[in-house]
Amino acid sequence: MLPTSSSLPFFLALFLCVPASAKILTDPTKIASQYDFVIVGGGTAGNVVANRLSENPNWRILVVEAGVNNAGIEDVSVPFLEIDASPNKPWTWNYTTVPQTALNGRSMQYTRGKLLGGSSSINYMMYTRGSSDYWDNIAQYSGDEGWSWNSMLPYFKKLETFTPPADHHNTAGEFNPSVHGSNGPLSVSLPGFPTELNSRVFNTTKIASQSFPFNLDVNSGNQLGVGWLQASINDTVRASSAVAYLAPQFISRPNLDVLIQQQVTKVLFSTSAKSAPIATGITFAAGPGARSFTVKPSKEVILCGGSIGSTQLLLLSGIGPSSQLNAHRIPVVLFSPQVGQNLIDHPAIMNHFIANTTQSADSIRENATVLQAVEEEYATLGQGPFVDTASSSIALLRFPSSESVFRQFPDSSVGPNSAHYEFLWADAWVGFLPTVAAPATGAFTTLAQVVVAPASRGSITLSSSSPFDFPIIDPAFLTSEYDVKLSLLAFKSAKQFMAQSPWKGFILGPAQDSANLNTDDEIIAYIRSNTLTLWHPTGTNRMEGNGGKSQGVVDHNLLVKGVSKLRIVDASVFPFIVPGHPEATVYALAERTADLIKAAWA
Ligand SMILES: Cc1cc2nc3c(=O)[nH]c(=O)nc-3n(C[C@H](O)[C@H](O)[C@H](O)COP(=O)(O)OP(=O)(O)OC[C@H]3O[C@@H](n4cnc5c(N)ncnc54)[C@H](O)[C@@H]3O)c2cc1C
Ligand SMILES: *[C@@H]1O[C@H](CO)[C@@H](O)[C@H](O)[C@H]1NC(C)=O
Ligand SMILES: *[C@@H]1O[C@H](CO)[C@@H](O)[C@H](O)[C@H]1NC(C)=O
Ligand SMILES: *[C@@H]1O[C@H](CO)[C@@H](O)[C@H](O)[C@H]1NC(C)=O
Ligand SMILES: *[C@@H]1O[C@H](CO)[C@@H](O)[C@H](O)[C@H]1NC(C)=O
Ligand SMILES: *[C@@H]1O[C@H](CO)[C@@H](O)[C@H](O)[C@H]1NC(C)=O
Repeated sequence: MLPTSSSLPFFLALFLCVPASAKILTDPTKIASQYDFVIVGGGTAGNVVANRLSENPNWRILVVEAGVNNAGIEDVSVPFLEIDASPNKPWTWNYTTVPQTALNGRSMQYTRGKLLGGSSSINYMMYTRGSSDYWDNIAQYSGDEGWSWNSMLPYFKKLETFTPPADHHNTAGEFNPSVHGSNGPLSVSLPGFPTELNSRVFNTTKIASQSFPFNLDVNSGNQLGVGWLQASINDTVRASSAVAYLAPQFISRPNLDVLIQQQVTKVLFSTSAKSAPIATGITFAAGPGARSFTVKPSKEVILCGGSIGSTQLLLLSGIGPSSQLNAHRIPVVLFSPQVGQNLIDHPAIMNHFIANTTQSADSIRENATVLQAVEEEYATLGQGPFVDTASSSIALLRFPSSESVFRQFPDSSVGPNSAHYEFLWADAWVGFLPTVAAPATGAFTTLAQVVVAPASRGSITLSSSSPFDFPIIDPAFLTSEYDVKLSLLAFKSAKQFMAQSPWKGFILGPAQDSANLNTDDEIIAYIRSNTLTLWHPTGTNRMEGNGGKSQGVVDHNLLVKGVSKLRIVDASVFPFIVPGHPEATVYALAERTADLIKAAWA
């Protein structure tokens, strides 16, 4: 893993110090007596919805967030310290998965953000919108043209301000300005400390342009190829949904309250024989045994707890598969068999290579003098490796339809112009497995390979009826043999990429953990012992589709089916997983849904 958790010098701590806003409340007795909307979770989506709904001065909005304030936490603010932002922090949910049967029975940490900004406050800031195919597929599946790429592009533009990178280099030729926004709350930028590694990546696109073509902007709808990686970063600091959508000019609105350190424990319903159950409010408490409070909004309860939080809360509130509700003796509001099903996540592998360089970021981890110099450069000049996320470039690629896997299995990609797999490159050893520690010395290049169109499906189920017990999380990685085959093909493609001439004399061969992999069986054994999550759980409360033939939890307006006045707005509602990284899609989903809510109550 990259650097260290050495705490930064005191002057850096001062530089990052953000005054906590008075509008962020910790005392539940200080909230108003009446609200129009209650939003559960001040995470990636929740703050977008809160911001947009509070644009209407006649509506009163309450956000209830289980975690802490993001302000002033330097591991959460300094981009390079992303590796210290999780797991097992006072601001994370420390989930672990059940043993993964196709990964030699390994369990893995499954961290989420438990603070304002949610997972956007602890993620790796890699910003990808998916492909036009992805959104057009959702539109077709849900029967709602509003989810098509052409309808969503204006939301992608609305939400962002494309910002110069920290080093203010000339970014011409690194992105397509016509598909970006200049006035939105979220800052998105290109790398502010591009290293020599990138010139090798992009030189490879010239030499092997058939297999690895250059793409000016992977966020233009046409995602295929190798391009510069955009990130949710504003100059030198992380741009999360808290930084962006709860900025001082928004949080100061008199009709917006954000209550933190209170976990929502239940959605309340009124039931009658005549109509569907109506969501009337929520209960929340600071922890087990703490005093419980109730809020009853006049218009809607909006769940933005993320794929794990919203799913657990629905089940606890009596909406879910009958077997589970009965097993935990939860009073049934509505049988909804799909709640917690269809969990999709991206299986990833960090492939390590020995690099012949003195300039890799490994020296930051290995050498305290280098670390100190880099910290000072960041604190005094706002420059250097600390301004960026781990990768500056991204490849989104397809396998040829002639591959034998596509004769055995249906093609899982969301369309002919969408990726099966992805590469990211880091100028250092990046790794997340407790069993494969970074070597104490040496320089490395990491090539992360990701299957972005997996076929495996997992689930989230309750472990108990207590809201304070973690649910059972099973991403079911590689349980479809198809995903194993795609991962094998991706490994071979990575090897081919790194064998091109720009890497000669720079890459000296695979590192110890992937040395001597020759046969497919050897590579597959390596895949099973090295696959890990990219923390992209999606789909556990998916939209219904195909005219109701594909069951779902929410309708195309993200209203929970079978009840009224309850909506879900977060990564759990996507029927497919994005070929890429989900945060941009969650922001855009939340922007559009805020408009749907405004229209519904106009
Ligand atoms: C380590 C890591 C790295 C990642 N890297 C990237 C990346 O580089 N690029 C990318 O695009 N995506 C990345 N992701 C994924 C991305 O961050 C998520 O898909 C996205 O942020 C999910 O948004 P959300 O609104 O669905 O949920 P979240 O942002 O997780 O928000 C949910 C919020 O609800 C709160 N909550 C949950 N339950 C309750 C409750 N009962 N009561 C009150 N509050 C509750 C949580 O505390 C949290 O604040 C990463 C994720 C992680 C964890
Ligand atoms: C996660 O672990 C950290 C460090 O041990 C702890 O402070 C925090 O409370 C834990 N979070 C949860 C939700 O259990
Ligand atoms: C980026 O940060 C600067 C300096 O704090 C701030 O003025 C600007 O509004 C931020 N941009 C966005 C889009 O939030
Ligand atoms: C990339 O190609 C350019 C142009 O041919 C060359 O000048 C440069 O040295 C190459 N970079 C690397 C790292 O090989
Ligand atoms: C650490 O880095 C400094 C500065 O570059 C260098 O002078 C020193 O030799 C390095 N130490 C080791 C042990 O490599
Ligand atoms: C390492 O790189 C240097 C130049 O940067 C080169 O002279 C040397 O031959 C390389 N070593 C190997 C083993 O390729």
